[in-house]
Amino acid sequence: MGPPYGFSMTDTPPTTEYERYLRIPELLSLQKPAEDRAVPEELHFQAVHQSEELLMKMALGDMDSTIGYLLAGNALRAAHCLRRATFLVDLMSRQLGVLEFLSPHEYYAIRARLGRGSGQESPGFNRMMAMFPKVWVGFEALLNTRGVDLRTVYDQRAQHEELYALCEAMIDLDEGFQSFRGRHILLVKRIIGTGTPSLKGKPTELLERSQRTQFFEPLWRVREAIFDTFTPGAPLGADGCPVHRADDGHGSY
Ligand code: HEM
Repeated sequence: MGPPYGFSMTDTPPTTEYERYLRIPELLSLQKPAEDRAVPEELHFQAVHQSEELLMKMALGDMDSTIGYLLAGNALRAAHCLRRATFLVDLMSRQLGVLEFLSPHEYYAIRARLGRGSGQESPGFNRMMAMFPKVWVGFEALLNTRGVDLRTVYDQRAQHEELYALCEAMIDLDEGFQSFRGRHILLVKRIIGTGTPSLKGKPTELLERSQRTQFFEPLWRVREAIFDTFTPGAPLGADGCPVHRADDGHGSY
């Protein structure tokens, strides 16, 4: 059997267009060579983290484009970019499953080599968290330009179908991010348990608290506002939306 698939600087230079265009030698030299790994699974640990950063790089590009389209008043194109960002975040969650195969002992061996390194330092993750409020600012600007508030978009969906689709694409991304954090917590619990202090001394309960963060909060609150003012048994309007009390005074949502 030949050597594992990888690349070292002593290998022959790339010969095909495919290898050159995709920079395969550089890519495959970004993981520790087999002889330096604490356990063979350190490859999976490194490669999954690296792939997650690539997925976040793409998602960030889509969030950035979303802001541009929101500011340009193009709700449908903004929703399209958001949907792809959500798809990428869902891939991130799914990819965590590769690391569920790690035994506690294997991870212990890897962790001993990590030093003080922590997922909290992930540049992609931290940039995404910083990007959510900027998407929200672009969204509010679009609502202002259209002269409509969030509650009206939901109450009169038939008149604001594009904006409604955009709102739902926004909440999908928010939900996808929470799911990623939830999935990550399950992974952490499975490998290190619930009581083990983490490298930074931050217990898993802290992760659980941040998992509940809702970036587009008004989109979650508008649901509560609708149920607050909805009269049980009241008929649905022609567009399938509930008919609300005329005096609900629903404010700025
Ligand atoms: C063996 C697998 C993993 C374990 C055991 C693990 C463990 C942990 C722990 C204990 C924390 C709490 C802070 C700390 O002590 O560092 C944390 C935070 C974090 N990890 Fe992981 N992690 C794993 C895989 C991943 C992967 C693949 C990613 C992908 C990006 C990731 C991203 C993060 C992020 C973003 C945080 C901060 C979360 C927040 O603030 O909500 N982790 N991880």
